[in-house]
Amino acid sequence: MIIKKYKNLLISDFMKKSMQNLLLKNKEKISKEVAERIFQIDEVEIAELIKEIGNHEIDYIPTREIKENLATKYIGKNIYSFHEVESTNNVAKFLAEFGSPEGTIVLSETQTKGRGRRGNEWESPSGGIWLSIILKPNIEPPKASIITLATGVAVAKILRKMKIDAKIKWPNDILINNKKVCGILTEANAKSNTIDYVIVGVGIDTQVDINSLDENIQEKTTSINKETSEEIEDPQIVAKFLNEFEEIYNLFKDKNFDKILYEWKQMNQTIGSYVEVKQPFGEVFKGTAIGIDKQGALMLELENGELKKIISGECIIHKD
Ligand code: BTN
Repeated sequence: MIIKKYKNLLISDFMKKSMQNLLLKNKEKISKEVAERIFQIDEVEIAELIKEIGNHEIDYIPTREIKENLATKYIGKNIYSFHEVESTNNVAKFLAEFGSPEGTIVLSETQTKGRGRRGNEWESPSGGIWLSIILKPNIEPPKASIITLATGVAVAKILRKMKIDAKIKWPNDILINNKKVCGILTEANAKSNTIDYVIVGVGIDTQVDINSLDENIQEKTTSINKETSEEIEDPQIVAKFLNEFEEIYNLFKDKNFDKILYEWKQMNQTIGSYVEVKQPFGEVFKGTAIGIDKQGALMLELENGELKKIISGECIIHKD
């Protein structure tokens, strides 16, 4: 979970450029007059234009079909969809800065600079669900990591309802038959001691051709259509996920953290296993995962019997 602290509204030149590029790529969806002065307009107008472009349906995941299957009160009331963005998390961040409300969704058929955890690239070809949710919870920053666990629970639940035996690997990888099918990247923006907004980025390999991905991850990755003979309809999966997400996020807003942690534990594949956790700066801890604490940190019993609390890192589960 990445938390940034900004004192004032701060949109980097880099971010502004990336949004201008998005407008340029979608010139045909905005007026000729505006298209000619893209580099002169301010951020507020850029945000408005991005929303205008995002209101156009994309064939791959038509918003209309998602909305037909939505049973939510506020998650997914605004859905902005694109053929190609650098990263849906970046577009969502930009829109959140300029007032888009809680529950706004940004989704894209492809991402050219999809981001994973620990600075990894996230390959995002056509055939997957790449989406970000804007949240504005009224909580202290340390609690925000539970949103990531809650998102994992929502994804695992919809897969289980499709009769797929999905499990969660700490902190937030969704696995089917020990292979990753979904990753979650949560980024929060905090102003002093409160959270300003949280962006939850979810990548699900629904129908991605695994052989087209980087060789190093092919072995460890799967897609939903490889694991089930059922017909996969991406708009319906998005709707099911958003329905499930709103339910669990409401628990979060009600501070019912124990229920979320309970559900996470029911579906996890980490606790009880011998694991190796690589820390962001290279340190590696090996031991038995004995639980998670109230903030979602992993509790490890090291080989020397010492207890170690791990807040973040890459977890590898050893089978025996
Ligand atoms: C991971 O490393 O497991 C997290 C992957 C998160 C990928 C999603 S796809 C939608 C959103 N946009 C991004 O750039 N990343 C997240």
